[in-house]
Amino acid sequence: MPVDAIRKRRSVRKYQETPLSDEQIKEVLDVARYAPSWANQQGWEILIVKDKEQREKVARILEGNPAQRAVTQAPVLLVICADPGKSGKQLDKEYYMADASLLLDHIMLEAADMGLGTVYIGLFDEDKVREILGVPQPYRIVGMTPLGIPEKMPKERPRRELDEMLHWETW
Ligand SMILES: Cc1cc2nc3c(=O)[nH]c(=O)nc-3n(C[C@H](O)[C@H](O)[C@H](O)COP(=O)(O)O)c2cc1C
Repeated sequence: MPVDAIRKRRSVRKYQETPLSDEQIKEVLDVARYAPSWANQQGWEILIVKDKEQREKVARILEGNPAQRAVTQAPVLLVICADPGKSGKQLDKEYYMADASLLLDHIMLEAADMGLGTVYIGLFDEDKVREILGVPQPYRIVGMTPLGIPEKMPKERPRRELDEMLHWETW
């Protein structure tokens, strides 16, 4: 699965409104929770928003974000939160961003494998999303993604050439 899913995953911004069953949603998340995390603390929480009014409220604060419409089109919005106190902070690096993003990446890959679409939404007013969805402190809202059947699969986005990013032994 990994190579296939990695190569076919796209950031999907157009969805069918067809609902997903709770079993389908849980199937994606059940696999994704095997993502690695700081000291295996798994300091993440996953908020599942199916209610359309709530998704519309979130979409309203995404004005200007290319994924805005996807949040109301797709039947599910997954919101990934993390407790910075559970992930490590070492040598000036906070690992909760990595933990939550690895979980989100696993979600995106498993969804792609199941023929479902996602798009990592990282740009939003965290305080406003916190208020709409009632996310308590100290959780940070790292990212979210719509989950649903793609209406249109985007073309593959360009990638830098491999050799351009490699530094063997020393920089
Ligand atoms: C940390 C992060 C934040 C992102 N935030 C947004 C976002 O707020 N809105 C959006 O439409 N896409 C967002 N994206 C998706 C990227 O634009 C997308 O992954 C990139 O253009 C490559 O396209 P692909 O995912 O289809 O390969 C984000 C991706 C990452 C990794």
